[in-house]
Amino acid sequence: MLANADTDRVFQSYGRCCQHEAFFETFYRIFLGKSDEIRAMFEHTDMAEQRRLLRAGISWLIMYARGGSDVKLRSLGESHGRNGYDVDPSLYGYWVDALLEAVEQYDPEFDSELGLEWREVLRPGIEVITGAY
Ligand code: HEM
Repeated sequence: MLANADTDRVFQSYGRCCQHEAFFETFYRIFLGKSDEIRAMFEHTDMAEQRRLLRAGISWLIMYARGGSDVKLRSLGESHGRNGYDVDPSLYGYWVDALLEAVEQYDPEFDSELGLEWREVLRPGIEVITGAY
């Protein structure tokens, strides 16, 4: 578990981002622009619904770093694993980079230290997901 001061700052930063629906649109625009492989995976996806699902997914990652349950993340590990969407673990680096680019645009309090805290907070939950691959 990470120090509460760090996870609090990230939790609050996420709260500021979530005030803008465009935050999630920006995230997916950046993320899908990272590679043709990623874009192809979302070709038939209802992106409005996907933005709604991601809002919860990010909060599960943050809650896990705060000592919360891993149940939701394990189920993402199943859906994203070899027998599901088959998301290669190497693709999560793009996901994190895209998210941080979107946070930087929508959180007026963003700075490089907060960016590093975000990455630290996301890491353990992403390990749960990729660990199920
Ligand atoms: C830690 C990072 C991620 C989180 C929190 C996350 C979260 C989610 C959630 C909540 C869903 C909907 C629920 C489900 O189907 O299980 C979903 C669906 C999906 N995710 Fe992820 N995801 C992440 C990373 C990725 C990555 C890196 C890729 C591919 C490069 C990806 C591809 C997909 C696809 C293809 C779907 C299904 C879309 C559809 O229904 O058409 N995800 N994700």
